[in-house]
Amino acid sequence: MNITVVGTGYVGLVTGACIAEMGNTVYCVDVNRDKIENLKKGILPIYEPELDTIVVENHAAGRLQFTTSLKEAMAETDVYFIAVGTPPGEDGSADLRYVLDVAREIGSLMERPSVVINKSTVPVGTADKVRDTVRQQLEARGVDIEFDVVSNPEFLKEGAAVDDFMHPDRIIVGTDSARARQIMDELYAPFIRNHPRMMFMGVRDAEMTKYAANAMLATKISFMNEVASLCERLGVDVENVRLGIGSDQRIGFHFIYAGCGYGGSCFPKDVKALISIAHQNDFEPKLLQAVEARNDLQKHSLFNKVSAHFSGDLEGRTIAVWGLAFKPGTDDMREAPSVVLINSLINAGAKVRAFDPVAHETAPREFPEEWFTEKKLEIVDGQYEAAIDADALVLVTEWKPFRRPDFKALKKLLRTPVIVDGRNQYDPAQTQRAGFHYYGIGRMPTHAAI
Ligand code: UDX
Repeated sequence: MNITVVGTGYVGLVTGACIAEMGNTVYCVDVNRDKIENLKKGILPIYEPELDTIVVENHAAGRLQFTTSLKEAMAETDVYFIAVGTPPGEDGSADLRYVLDVAREIGSLMERPSVVINKSTVPVGTADKVRDTVRQQLEARGVDIEFDVVSNPEFLKEGAAVDDFMHPDRIIVGTDSARARQIMDELYAPFIRNHPRMMFMGVRDAEMTKYAANAMLATKISFMNEVASLCERLGVDVENVRLGIGSDQRIGFHFIYAGCGYGGSCFPKDVKALISIAHQNDFEPKLLQAVEARNDLQKHSLFNKVSAHFSGDLEGRTIAVWGLAFKPGTDDMREAPSVVLINSLINAGAKVRAFDPVAHETAPREFPEEWFTEKKLEIVDGQYEAAIDADALVLVTEWKPFRRPDFKALKKLLRTPVIVDGRNQYDPAQTQRAGFHYYGIGRMPTHAAI
């Protein structure tokens, strides 16, 4: 098959590369010339495990082409993925500008019967808008070409996106066309050869499925964070509660880790968008609003713990931060809890020395430049370097090298032995024995005799 993917962001690039890997010819199109030139040289705009190898290999094999010209790509293909951004507008609703721009361009260039597949996360009813937009263009040109619009949401986790694409739990396809259904079957057959995982449904059902999936996962996290806050007040360890409830198969162990709040490109944006969709339909989504509010509070929890330990006086103190990306396995800083923490610390007069194994290039863009020149914020090259003479260490992102640190070395490096563990990675008793004040999420603070 010959396929065009419009948008070489996170979703578009993974989709294009993985489909090319299965032997198809894929044209990845983006308006950003620098991005396209870099991709041709094997320079990727994002860090994602395994992605660089399949991009470079498939490009070298001629199966993965990069171009800024949709016209050039459309000369060779009749299956198009739309994988452009849907950033939140001021009211939280998804901004469809880029999706509809692409639809307009497709309509103005289409020459043969085609399938337009929407992968961007979009509100229910967007496929109809895409269809209308393409049709208007065809009518303006005075041509009548058959085309279908399909909703095919993505469920890729950053840090595991290639694996998720190659081994999907399910492939949701919203369409009412037999022809589109057959093309989607063919396209995805190599990914699900051993386990049929295609689910066909109405276009609007598929659009809603995507939002409901992310909102459900965000709800699990916010629920657990709320339970954690209660645990702190009741002298209960939320980690034991997690094990206790996760073993109930109806609940399960996934996404019930209390932490410092969810971030990333999907959960915050999609929960907001679903709230906005509800409002547009005269419905008050009380649960979703609570999920969002809980998460906003949770992102402040790390600062509150540091501040409480020092009785609110952080002036002149140095705080070490381990982990900046919103989660391990990515350099993505979007909605990262580290940003909320660092802003609060610096505004309270503290200095921050941070380390992240991969986000050292993306992280600085989140903060004012003068913080670096005035040495209020330093991003250093090693996890132990961050701890030198710091008054406390805050674990924000649970990268593997942070999971079993050398507590003896840490104790020597820190000026005061305080650990705030935003991901409940450490054993409170063990850290206490090692001589630390330990604060987790949803665990009683333990005080070492120092
Ligand atoms: C998510 C969805 O999982 C994916 O299906 C969708 O397509 C895009 O959004 P992603 O944003 O990459 O993927 O990350 P994910 O691993 O789902 O984690 C999201 C956030 O939740 C992270 O900030 C993570 O730290 C947090 N989280 C996750 C918790 O706080 N507790 C948990 O138990 C699980």
